[in-house]
Amino acid sequence: MTQEAENPRPQDANLPYQEGPLKIDLYRVPASSSRRDKILRALWACFQIPFARWTPKQLSPLRIALLRLFGASIGPACNIGSGVKVWCPWNLTMGERSAIGFDAEIYNFAPVTIGRHVVISQYAYLCTATHDYTHPHFPLTSAPIEIRSQSWVAAGCLISPGVTIGEGAVIGARSLVTRSMPAWTVSAGSPCKPLKPREIQTIIHG
Ligand SMILES: CC(C)(COP(=O)(O)OP(=O)(O)OC[C@H]1O[C@@H](n2cnc3c(N)ncnc32)[C@H](O)[C@@H]1OP(=O)(O)O)[C@@H](O)C(=O)NCCC(=O)NCCS
Repeated sequence: MTQEAENPRPQDANLPYQEGPLKIDLYRVPASSSRRDKILRALWACFQIPFARWTPKQLSPLRIALLRLFGASIGPACNIGSGVKVWCPWNLTMGERSAIGFDAEIYNFAPVTIGRHVVISQYAYLCTATHDYTHPHFPLTSAPIEIRSQSWVAAGCLISPGVTIGEGAVIGARSLVTRSMPAWTVSAGSPCKPLKPREIQTIIHG
């Protein structure tokens, strides 16, 4: 095969062309998910109207019922806000009384496990997938995310693949979390770092 056949010139003459063999060849990107997953995702896309951002927050029970229908494991008294996007419900586990705020996104090609009494605030992005940028075909890779019980992921955080948020942890707004964060600690920033212990007041119930 000639070099030009391996590295064809773009049809649009205005596009840049680099002589020589390609190091990155996006014609050969391997399939990122199985046929079953693709069919399920297409079916799931047909059922997502109650998730649209213009739908009222009161539709949370319907959103939870649909997620369960597609394989999510969601405990009692949970809340899913409007505009929440879940890519693969069958990869979502949520413990009791946990909440996902409006417009948050769960990009869960690998499992996302959310514990009990967890709050994921609005616009958070839980991202289980990345690309192997050292591989010539740039394949999608993924790793699970775990958000342990009683923690709070504040508004607009990005949680990277493979990260665990420790029990009772607080992750400050807009943090970029690339490493696992310790339990009962307030952490924040870009990149996210532990700042101080999370101290809980004692409340006397009368
Ligand atoms: C993380 C948070 C809870 C900490 O609140 P706090 O305990 O009152 O902390 P403070 O405001 O005293 O800040 C302590 C330090 O952390 C820094 N910090 C706080 N939040 C931060 C954040 N999100 N990113 C980066 N640094 C942050 C402060 O600048 C301060 O630094 P300094 O000591 O060098 O001045 C709060 O900042 C936060 O992010 N709240 C979330 C808001 C939100 O998402 N609301 C949606 C509600 S559903």
